[in-house]
Amino acid sequence: MLSRIATRSFSSSASNAYKVAVLGAGGGIGQPLSLLLKLNHKVTDLALYDIKGAPGVAADVSHVPTNSTVKGYNPDQLKEALTGADVIVIPAGVPRKPGMTRDDLFNTNASIVRDLAKAAAEYAPKAAIAVIANPVNSTVPIVAEVFRSKGVYNPKKLFGVTTLDVLRAARFVSEVAGTNPTQEHVPVVGGHSGITIVPLLSQTTHKDLPKDTKDSLTHRIQFGGDEVVKAKDGAGSATLSMAQAGARFTGAVLNGLDGEKDIIECTFVDSPLFKDEGVEFFSSKVTLGPEGVKQVHGLGELSDYEEDLVKTAKETLIKNIKKGTDFVDQNP
Ligand code: NAD
Ligand code: LMR
Repeated sequence: MLSRIATRSFSSSASNAYKVAVLGAGGGIGQPLSLLLKLNHKVTDLALYDIKGAPGVAADVSHVPTNSTVKGYNPDQLKEALTGADVIVIPAGVPRKPGMTRDDLFNTNASIVRDLAKAAAEYAPKAAIAVIANPVNSTVPIVAEVFRSKGVYNPKKLFGVTTLDVLRAARFVSEVAGTNPTQEHVPVVGGHSGITIVPLLSQTTHKDLPKDTKDSLTHRIQFGGDEVVKAKDGAGSATLSMAQAGARFTGAVLNGLDGEKDIIECTFVDSPLFKDEGVEFFSSKVTLGPEGVKQVHGLGELSDYEEDLVKTAKETLIKNIKKGTDFVDQNP
C-alpha cells in the first residue's frame, strides 16, 4: 500500500513545492499528522517541531519514500523550523480528560498558542496558519490578536481546523441512513465546541429526518469528541481521526495555494457573516485560493431548527472569541 502511494507521489505533476511546519509534531495528533503530510506530494519540506521528541519523529517519518525532506527541530530551533514555511499547522497543546470541556484547556493552551504565534509572526508572517489546538474558538482569535499586535495580521491566512466535525457528521449520518460515508457531505458551521458546532442536515439528501433522529444526530455531531475522550479514559482525545482531518485540511490549503479550482472546506475564519452582530470569527464553507481565503460562503438556506442552533452558537462564540482576544491584550 505504502509503495503504491510513494510511486504515485514521485510521478505526480506537482506544480509547486511547499514547506509545511508542524508545531507539536511529537504528540498524539502531531505524529500521525506528520506521517500523512509526508504522503502529500505537494509537501516537499516537512519541518517537525516540538518541545520534546521531534527529531525522533522526523527520523522515523523520513524513511517513508516520498519526494520530500523531513527535519526535526528542538525547542531552541523554532526559528529554523518556521523560516520559509508556507503553511504552519499547530496541534501543540494539552488534550482533554473525561469531565473537562475544551474551554477548561484555555489556561494551559492559550499561552502555548500565543508564544508559537509570536514566533510565526516574526519568522513566517506570510504563512497560512491552521490551528488545531483547543479551544479553537479562542485559540484562533489569540493568533489573530498576536499577528495584529505585530502589524502582520492577514485574515485570509488564518484558519481554525473544524474538519473533524465534518468527518464525524458524514460518518454519523451514514450510520443512521445506511449509506456510504464517502458520499455524504454535511456542512458544519459555527465553531468547534459543543453547541457552537452546527451541522446543516437540511443541506444533505436527508432533509426529512424525524425530529428525534435529527436531535440525536445533531447532539452526536456536537459532542462526538466526548465519545473519544471517554473511551480513552484519561489518555487524551481524538488523535488519529484528527490527524486525518488535519491532513485533509492542510492538503486543501495547499491545493488552494497551488491554484487549484473549487477547493472548498468548512473552516473557522475571520468572517464577514455575523460581524455586525459582534461575531468576529465563524466557521462556514470557504473557498481556498492562492492567497488563502478566496471566498467566505454564506450559510445558504437554513431550516428553523438550524436557525435556532446558529443563534445559540453565536452567543457562545462571542464570549469564546472575546476570551482569546482579551488574553493577548492582558498578557501580550
Ligand atoms: P498531546 O499531548 O498528545 O500532544 C501535544 C504535543 O504538543 C506534545 O507533544 C507536546 O510536547 C507539544 N507541545 C506542548 N507545548 C508545546 C510548545 N510550546 N511548542 C511545541 N509543542 C508543544 O495532545 P494531542 O492529542 O496531540 O492534542 C493536541 C491539541 O489538539 C489539544 O489541545 C487537543 O484538544 C486539540 N485537538 C483539536 C481537535 C480539533 O478538532 N481542532 C481535535 C483533537 C484534538
Ligand atoms: C475533538 O473534537 O475530538 C477535539 O476537539 C478534542 C476534544 O477535546 O474533544
